[in-house]
Amino acid sequence: MSSEKESKPILVAGAGSGIGKSVLENLNLLSRDAIGISRTGAVWKNAGNGRPFEYGKNFQCNLSRQSEVLEFVGALKSQVNSLSGVYFTFGSGLFKSVDQIALEEWNAHFVLNLNSLFLLTKEILPLLRAGSFLCYLSSTAGYQGFPNSTAYCASRHAIAGFAKALREELKSQGIRVITVYPGAVYTDIWKGREGFEQDDMIPVDDFGKWLATLATLPDAVYPDEIRLLPRKGIL
Ligand SMILES: NC(=O)c1ccc[n+]([C@@H]2O[C@H](COP(=O)([O-])OP(=O)(O)OC[C@H]3O[C@@H](n4cnc5c(N)ncnc54)[C@H](OP(=O)(O)O)[C@@H]3O)[C@@H](O)[C@H]2O)c1
Repeated sequence: MSSEKESKPILVAGAGSGIGKSVLENLNLLSRDAIGISRTGAVWKNAGNGRPFEYGKNFQCNLSRQSEVLEFVGALKSQVNSLSGVYFTFGSGLFKSVDQIALEEWNAHFVLNLNSLFLLTKEILPLLRAGSFLCYLSSTAGYQGFPNSTAYCASRHAIAGFAKALREELKSQGIRVITVYPGAVYTDIWKGREGFEQDDMIPVDDFGKWLATLATLPDAVYPDEIRLLPRKGIL
């Protein structure tokens, strides 16, 4: 399987719905080898043939579970020697006033949105080479505050800080760390939130189409921090 080992696919972590699903679909349209993972993906089997993952599809991995992250990365390493890039498009919202947030939901939010992002980053690093990229999604909530968003703002600011520090650590290896701070993109994360109009937001496929193009940039081009808003600006 030497040709398989030599291919450098892109990993989309969080490709079950929303932005990540659209990124995976658009990478497929761009004919880029890509693998998605999320809770609702297809079950994969490490059959010992060195090819557990078919390109273009989303596979099952609950990133809140350390054992599943380690098992997935182990199987991925049996299939490929390196990755061109990784999109971190998984995450969840938690939009309540601070007095309404139970400690358990606060903890669960940080396990997924921060701890899992750290763990996956750490485990995937041996597959990255000079020119590879790591793309993290922060948010407008990663540089300013919003009401009923203490947990979300805290996790988005934390992702931005994590990425800034990682960028400095990986600079000498030529690995690019890209942070995108999107404004409102209409996905499930907005459903049920009052005071917002779908028409004011970026359609998810427009955003996914744009985000996928980061994988087509020449290795020597490095957009490190990108703010991106719908036409009405910050909603
Ligand atoms: N939409 C926006 O306006 C916006 C703006 C700025 C930043 N963001 C950020 O972008 C990211 C994606 O959000 P979205 O709007 O696309 O929301 P979404 O449609 O709810 O997508 C969430 C993604 O995370 C995956 N996921 C959730 N829990 C997971 C778990 N335990 N393990 C593995 N995958 C998991 C979901 O797939 P499964 O359900 O299959 O697990 C899905 O692919 C979030 O981090 C969000 O904060 C969104």
